Amino acid sequence: MTKKFFITTPIYYVNDVPHIGHTCTTIAADILARYHKLLGEDVFFLTGTDEHGNKVAQEAAAAGLTPKEFCDKVSRSFKEIWPKLNIQYDYFIRTTDPRHEKIASAVVQKLYDKGYIYKGMYEGFYCLGCEKFLNEKDLMDGKCPLHPNKEPQHQKEENYFFKLSSFKDVLIKAISDPNDPNHYEILPESKKKEVLSKLKEGVDDISISREKVSWGIPCPWDKKHTIYVWVEALLNYYTATQFVPGKKDFWPADLHTMAKDILWFHTVIWEALLIAADLPVPKQIFIHSFYLIDGQKMSKSLGNVISPQQLLEKFGADATRYLIASSFPFDKDSNVGLQKFTEKYNADLANGLGNLVARVTKLCENNNLQFSPIDLSIFRSIETNKILQAVDSFLREYKLSEALTVIWMAIKGLDSYIDKERPWELTSSEAKKRLDIIIRGSESIRSLLEIAYALAPFMPETAKKIEKQFSGPKIISSTSLFPRI
Ligand code: MSP
Repeated sequence: MTKKFFITTPIYYVNDVPHIGHTCTTIAADILARYHKLLGEDVFFLTGTDEHGNKVAQEAAAAGLTPKEFCDKVSRSFKEIWPKLNIQYDYFIRTTDPRHEKIASAVVQKLYDKGYIYKGMYEGFYCLGCEKFLNEKDLMDGKCPLHPNKEPQHQKEENYFFKLSSFKDVLIKAISDPNDPNHYEILPESKKKEVLSKLKEGVDDISISREKVSWGIPCPWDKKHTIYVWVEALLNYYTATQFVPGKKDFWPADLHTMAKDILWFHTVIWEALLIAADLPVPKQIFIHSFYLIDGQKMSKSLGNVISPQQLLEKFGADATRYLIASSFPFDKDSNVGLQKFTEKYNADLANGLGNLVARVTKLCENNNLQFSPIDLSIFRSIETNKILQAVDSFLREYKLSEALTVIWMAIKGLDSYIDKERPWELTSSEAKKRLDIIIRGSESIRSLLEIAYALAPFMPETAKKIEKQFSGPKIISSTSLFPRI
C-alpha cells in the first residue's frame, strides 16, 4: 500500500494580506510535500485561512464590508497567490465553510459530553493580535511581546473552560516516550525542550468560548457563546480530512509546519483537545523561527513588510522559492531583505546555476554534440542519485538551506571540473572524443541531470527545463535561466 503523507501549514488570519512570513512556511511545506511525492508517497497538502473572531469582525467593519464579504476577499488573495509561486496545495480550507463548522462543532460537543468542559468566570488581559488571553507573566511592560503597539484589553466575562490542567502528565509522557500510544514529536529538539519545561511548570485550564464574539461558531450546547477561534482553527486539520472526498484515512497528520509564535497551541492545547476527544494526535510538529527584515521585526507601521507579489515580480517563482528556502529560519531568526535577496540571486542563480547551464549548452552547441537519449530513471531514484541521498538526510530534519547547500556544492564542483578540463581548448578529432566524454559521456550532463532532479522539489520549473534541455538527443538552446538583475 502506498505510504500516506499529510502535511499542513497554519491557516492564516484574514485580517492581514499574504506576506513573506506566510510565504516562508507555505513554500517550505510545498517543498516537503513535493519531496514526499517524489519518494512515491500519497501526499495530502493542506493550507487555508482562519476567518472567525473579533479581530476579523473589526477589520471587516473598518473596510465597510460584512465579515463574510471581507473574508471572501482576503481569503482569495491567499488562495490565488500560492499557485503563482508553484505551490501545489491539494486543498484550501476556510473556517467559514459550513462543513468545517459542523464537524468542529460536533467535536467540541463531544468534549462537553465527556465532561471536559465547565462554566466559569474569566478575568484578565486579552491580546486581540494573538486572539488569546495573556497572564501577567506573559506581558512585557504591560504589553503583549508580539504586539507591543496594541493595548491588551482587560476582560471579565463568563466563559466555558477546557480542563487542560488534567492533561499535563499525559502530554509530558506523550512527548517524551516514543512508545506512548499518543506519542508525538516536536522538532527541532530545542522547541521540544522548551515545551516540556513549560509543561512541567504546570498548566491552567483554558477558556474555550466567548460571550461577546458573534463572528464565530456557536457553542452547540449554549448558543449564547461562540467557540474560541483558536479551538476551531486547530480543528481545521482534522475537519478537512473528514469532509474533503477521499481523505478520511489521512488523519492523523504526519506533519504540521509553523513558526514559533504558535508553538504552544500546536504542541500542547491541540494534542490535549484531540486526546480528550479520543482522536489520534499528529505525528510530528515542526516549528521554525522568524524572518526579520533588515534586522527588524516585520510590521505594517514600520512599512518593511515584503509581499509575495513583490518577490514574484522581481525574481520569478522558482528563484523566490530558492531565496526563501536558502534563507530558511530553521532554529534561529533569519535576517532577510530585498537587497540581500538580490545579491543572493545574482551570486547563486545568475552566476551559479544559470551560468553553468549556459556554459554546458554552449559547449555542446559549438561542437555540435549529439547523443542518444539518456534514460532518466537513474537520476530519478534515490538509490542511484548521490546528490538526492545527501539532500534526503537534511530534508528529513527539515533543514532546507543545508539541503540546498549540498546541491550548490555539486554545482560548484561541476563548474570547477569544466574549468580544469578546459574543453573549449580542444580542437583535433582526438580531442573532440575527449570533449564528448567530458560533456555528455560522463560528468557534466549526468551531474546536471542529478542536480536537476534533486532540485525538483525546490525549483520545479527550473528542474524540468534542465532535464528537457539535456536529456537528448540534441541540446535545446534556451534563453538564460536567470538573467542578472
Ligand atoms: N490563524 C493563526 C494560525 C491558526 S493554525 C490552526 C495564525 N495566523 S497568522 O496569519 O498569524 O500566521 C502565523 C504564521 O505565519 C506563523 O506561524 C508562520 O507560519 C507565518 N509567519 C508569520 N510571520 C512570520 C515571520 N516573520 N517569519 C516566518 N514566518 C512567520 O497564527
